[in-house]
This record gives sequence, structure tokens and C-alpha cells, in this order.
Amino acid sequence: MKFLLGLIIGILIAPLIGMAILNWGGFPAGADNKPMAMERYLAHLGLSASMRGASKIQSPLPASEANIEQGAKVYSMNCADCHGLPKQPPTPMAQGMNPGPPQFFKFPQRGPAEDPVGDTYWMVQHGVRMTGMPSYANGLTQDQRWQVTLFLKNKAHLSPAAQQILAGNPPSK
Ligand code: HEC
Repeated sequence: MKFLLGLIIGILIAPLIGMAILNWGGFPAGADNKPMAMERYLAHLGLSASMRGASKIQSPLPASEANIEQGAKVYSMNCADCHGLPKQPPTPMAQGMNPGPPQFFKFPQRGPAEDPVGDTYWMVQHGVRMTGMPSYANGLTQDQRWQVTLFLKNKAHLSPAAQQILAGNPPSK
């Protein structure tokens, strides 16, 4: 009986301490606070477990010039505010986000240009909870999700037409 009581009190005490810490401001919720090491570690652990196997997914669309150009349109309309454009500083929104959205044109050869397309597609499909990275499962079609994925894969060597789309003057055709 005593053991059971001890167990119940023990089980109750841990969440109560957690709530007290939150109540005393031990977990500042403002976006201008740095994440804690533990928070970062747990978030990454959860993300990599959720993404397991994603890198094996192959694109049903070819990385053709037409698909990459469509991807550039999807990107400039939906992603550029957060992830940036070539030769442009991060937007005020991107600067104020925590975690900050990676600026994909700061190092064009890096990030999704090196990642397996399946990983990038997973990100676009599911988003990342509590980071600001949206899920485009409903907002974009499957083709659009793959087109923007192929665009990001090839962002280090875009055609002049794709670059023009990013610069806001799509080629007339
Ligand atoms: C409202 C801001 C916002 C928008 C809009 C947005 N993202 Fe993101 N994205 C983020 C943030 C923040 C992260 C970082 C998530 C993290 O830290 O795990 C991210 C991460 C990613 C990553 C993972 C990058 C890496 O190297 O780990 C990819 C890929 C990505 N976004 C693609 C896109 C695409 C494609 C679009 C448009 C269809 C888009 N994002 C729109 C905020 C945004």
C-alpha cells in the first residue's frame, strides 16, 4: 500500500515540477529567444525518426527544364518569403523567425542541392511542426511539390529562364 502511494505521488510530482517551471517562465515562448540545447536535441531526434526512409523516394517527374521552371514559379510564389532569393537579403519575416528558415541561395550548392530529393519532398509534403515550415500536402498538387523539389535540387545551376522567373520577370512564351 505504502509502495503504491509512493509510486502515485512520484508519478504526479514530475509533471507538477514541469508545470511549475513553465509557470515561472522557465520556458520563454517569445520567438526572439534561443532554443535550449535539450529542446534542439529532442526536436532533431523526432524529426529524423519521422523522416526515416524518406530519402529512398524517387521523383515520378523527370528533372526537365520545363519542370524546373514550373518549380521556380512555385518557389517564388510560396517559399521565397521565408527561404530567400538569389542576391537578396533575408526578408524581415525570415530574420524574425525561430528557428530561422535556411536561406537556400546563400550557398546555392548546399542544402537541398545535395540532399536526396526524397528528403526535400518529405519536407514539402509534411512540413515541420513548431518551426513555421508549412505542410503543402493540401496547398500544392503532387506535381507542384515535385517540381519545387527538382528546382531546389538544381538551384546551383539554373537556366537563364528559371533565373528570370525568380527575378520576377518570367520569360514570355
Ligand atoms: C513561413 C516560412 C516558411 C515557408 C513559407 C516555407 N518554409 Fe521551408 N522551412 C521553414 C523553416 C523555419 C525551416 C527549418 C525547419 C527546421 O528547423 O527543422 C524550413 C525548412 C525547409 C526545408 C529543410 C531544409 C534543410 O536543409 O533541412 C526544406 C527543403 C524546405 N523548408 C522547403 C520549403 C519549400 C519548397 C517551401 C515552399 C513550397 C517552403 N519551404 C516554404 C520555413 C518556411
